[in-house]
Amino acid sequence: MSAPAPARTVLVTGAAKRLGREIALALAKDGWQVAVHYRDSLEDATKTVADCVGLSGASAAFRANLTSEAAVRSLLPKVIQQFGRVDAVVNSASTFEHDTSSSFSFAAMDKHLRSNTGAAIILAQALHAHVLLRDGSASAQARRPLGVVVNLLDQKLWNQNPDFFSYTLSKAALEAANTMLAMALSPHVRVVGVAPGLTLTSHMLSQKKFEALHQLSPLGRSSTPADVAATVKFAIDNQSITGTTVLVDGGQHLMKFERDFSLL
Ligand SMILES: NC(=O)c1ccc[n+]([C@@H]2O[C@H](COP(=O)([O-])OP(=O)(O)OC[C@H]3O[C@@H](n4cnc5c(N)ncnc54)[C@H](OP(=O)(O)O)[C@@H]3O)[C@@H](O)[C@H]2O)c1
Repeated sequence: MSAPAPARTVLVTGAAKRLGREIALALAKDGWQVAVHYRDSLEDATKTVADCVGLSGASAAFRANLTSEAAVRSLLPKVIQQFGRVDAVVNSASTFEHDTSSSFSFAAMDKHLRSNTGAAIILAQALHAHVLLRDGSASAQARRPLGVVVNLLDQKLWNQNPDFFSYTLSKAALEAANTMLAMALSPHVRVVGVAPGLTLTSHMLSQKKFEALHQLSPLGRSSTPADVAATVKFAIDNQSITGTTVLVDGGQHLMKFERDFSLL
């Protein structure tokens, strides 16, 4: 009798709350051991971990400020130390601060690019090195990639406006990295983008306005957190997808918005 397959482990960044938490819970429900990354939200991260343990039996929280290269580089080794392996990384954490072409600064660009782009690339690089070291030759033999990275993008990239200038630049760079990494890390690691539409409200949007804007799409509804989590799970499960992005936004990217939702 062959030994049972080891439990799969996923690192989800920004998983204390909101979309990251929804993704963590969906994967835990599917049996994944979830490494819950957080920065400031320790209490929420602790709750996500407890809920994931209830679903899959294993989870732990890991703190890192993703603007620090040293902190990002030490993240995956800590997860490997805890669980013995990592099979997937979901880059959901994101800095989302408002600026425009007028208020744009190197400081704003640097902050967004570090956490939203650079951190995701370094985590992909680290996953690739880990799976190669772990069982690289098995991947080619089995014609089955050993690792997968899912990058959370934004429908805004296909429907641009000049609000949240640095955020949008950082996600555009991540979309380009998505293609380049998929090429560079094949056949061992797949890299897939998931681009939600307006899914959750922000500090700049009242609940009432959010509900009205959520309906503003060709389908009359944008994405829900469950839609986004299901798409991330699909991207992780489907062994033939790499170097592309699934838009899950009710078709919002097919419309033209002159301003960001929060400023409409
Ligand atoms: N929500 C939407 O409607 C929507 C729409 C389109 C695209 N998206 C994309 O989907 C993803 C998830 O969205 P969301 O609304 O759940 O994200 P969010 O609430 O804006 O941010 C998620 C988490 O990111 C973490 N974070 C921010 N800066 C960080 C840093 N420097 N270092 C480490 N962690 C940092 C924060 O963790 P702590 O709280 O622990 O500090 C935060 O809770 C994002 O990539 C976003 O761009 C979301």
